[in-house]
Parts: sequence; structure tokens; C-alpha cells
Amino acid sequence: MPRILTGITPSGTLHIGNYFGAMRPAIELQAGGDAYYFIADYHSMTALTDAKERRAFTQGIALDWLACGLDPAKAVFWRQSDIPEVCELMWLIGSLTPMGLLERAHSYKDKTAKGIEANFGLFAYPVLMAADILLFDTNVVPVGKDQKQHLEMTRDIAIKFNHTYGETFVVPEERISETLAVIPGLDGQKMSKSYGNTIEIFGDEKALRKKIMGIVMDSRTPQEPKPDADKNLAVQLLKLFAPADVAADFENRLRAGGLGYGDLKKALFEHYWNFFAPYRAKRAELAANLDYVDKVLREGADRARAVAAKTMARARQNCGLR
Ligand code: TYM
Repeated sequence: MPRILTGITPSGTLHIGNYFGAMRPAIELQAGGDAYYFIADYHSMTALTDAKERRAFTQGIALDWLACGLDPAKAVFWRQSDIPEVCELMWLIGSLTPMGLLERAHSYKDKTAKGIEANFGLFAYPVLMAADILLFDTNVVPVGKDQKQHLEMTRDIAIKFNHTYGETFVVPEERISETLAVIPGLDGQKMSKSYGNTIEIFGDEKALRKKIMGIVMDSRTPQEPKPDADKNLAVQLLKLFAPADVAADFENRLRAGGLGYGDLKKALFEHYWNFFAPYRAKRAELAANLDYVDKVLREGADRARAVAAKTMARARQNCGLR
């Protein structure tokens, strides 16, 4: 049975890009595999320096995962920082990671280009991510396209370590869905916590309606035919939430002319809102039972740590540490 692992960083509120790119595929895979899912709170330290916020986002993401269908009976679920071995492994593999490899990282280049302070954590981010993956003998990592390069680096690091110290790590593969690899945000760019263009999975109804109704469209009249209807952002997003025939009907009406953008956005909001309705109810239930959520994470950490200890012992042994 392949071991599946993925993580999400608690640096903000989760959005539908996170859901379709990583959470839903992970949740679909939990039944047929050996599933390991975690909240990457160490990774959030490069983006966030407020302890209260980190705690709140971490708890929020735990609720989101469980509400959306992560089943602790099927998947091991934990907070990254409950397994400090991951930092030790980062050192072992980091000592073999060429500077040039890290200098080529898109995420590092993008962030520093935006003026984010270039510190060691930001630079070493992909090594910590490789440690997450390698520590658990992972075979498959479901992620969005923005993580592809990190997975390639993880493979390079694993191969180099195995070559240097003997077979130690499983070399993992990414699982990126072709259609859901890059979910667009409200402005048409990739949806991202750091671009301010997100549609949250859970949030205030009024605010989310306003965001969706505020999507900027061109100035063509409703009557005008629109041969580029398939490229329309609201149509693309509607396809995520509405049954295929319903979404196709909206697309055809937009193409033929006669459907106004306002009505299209209204339909998008309704389908989006209804899509997450059952998860919203589950989330409210869980939020009233935080002891249970904490227990899930603690028990998950115990199970994850047992696996981590074995890999760590093997890695230490192979590179001549005690
Ligand atoms: P993060 O928290 O930025 O994103 C979590 C997951 O959501 C996916 N994603 C998207 N997918 C499609 N369209 C989008 N617009 C979109 N935005 C985000 C991401 O690709 C990701 O799969 N470094 C990771 C967390 C991490 C991790 C790991 C992941 C730490 N260790 C080990 C896998 C394995 C991150 O910050 O993801």
C-alpha cells in the first residue's frame, strides 16, 4: 500500500485552492492508502511571527481538515512541531544539499523579489519540506503545482543521501491533478494566501458574497455573444462547484449571449456556498468540541513519531552518528 503524505502551512485561512489542490485529493486517497497528513507549523515561522496567530491558524486548519472529511481512523493527523525529529533530519540532509539547488527555488526567489526578508528559514524551507517527506518513507505526495519544484528537490536530496550513505530514504513522487493544479484567484492569478485574492473554504457569508460579486469582468453587454466563455473566471470556478451539466449550461448561455455577468456570479456564489454547507455544519460541531480535536492531533503525533523514530535511527546509523 503506498504511503501518502501531505502538509498545509498555517499562515492564514484556508482557501479553495488548498481544498481542490491538496485536501480533497488527500481525503480521497485516505481510504486506499496509508495516509499521513500534518499541519506544517514549523514552516509557518518563515511567514508569521505572531504566536497567537500561529495558534489560531493551526487550530483553524485542524478544524478545516476534519470538517472536510479527514478521518482520524484512516489517516494519521498531527502538528509538525510535535515531531522535532524533523528538524534533526533537516540538518542531516541539509548538509548534503547544494546551495545552488536552494538558490534556484522559485518560492524563495518570488518571496525575496516581493521584499520579504531573506532569512535562513526561508532559504532552508525546501530542506525542511524534504525532511517532512523523507522522515515518513513517503511514496506519494498530493499537492498543487506550486509545490512541484519542492518535490523535485526532495527527490534530488534523497537520491544524493542514498548515494552517499547507502539506501536510507524512499524516493517520493508528487501527485498533481492536471485540472486542479492551479486554482485561479479572484483576480485570475494563482489563488494564494499571500496575494489577497482568495475565496476561503469557510468564512462569513456576507463577506464572501461580496468578494464573489466583486470579481471584475469586461464591459461587454449581457446580450453580446462571448466566444471566449470557457476562459471566463466565474465559469471556471463554477465548474468546481456545480454539477457538470449545470456549469455547461451557464457556459453555453454566456457564449450565446443573453446571460449577464451579475447572474453568473450570483450562481457561482450559490453553488460555492451550498458545496461546503455540510462541511460547514461539521466544522461548527467540531469547534464546540476542541478537546476532541486536540486529542486527535496528540494521538496522531504519537503514531507519527513512532514511524519517524525508525527512519531517524536508520539515517543516523547510516551516516555514522550514534
Ligand atoms: P501551502 O500551505 O502553501 O498550500 C497547501 C497545499 O495547497 C496547494 N495550493 C494550491 N493548489 C491549487 N491551486 C492553488 N491556487 C493552490 N494554492 C495552494 C499547495 O500546492 C499545497 O499542496 N510547503 C507546503 C506545506 C508543506 C508540505 C510538506 C506539503 C510542508 N511540508 C510536505 C507536502 C509535503 C505549503 O506551504 O503549502
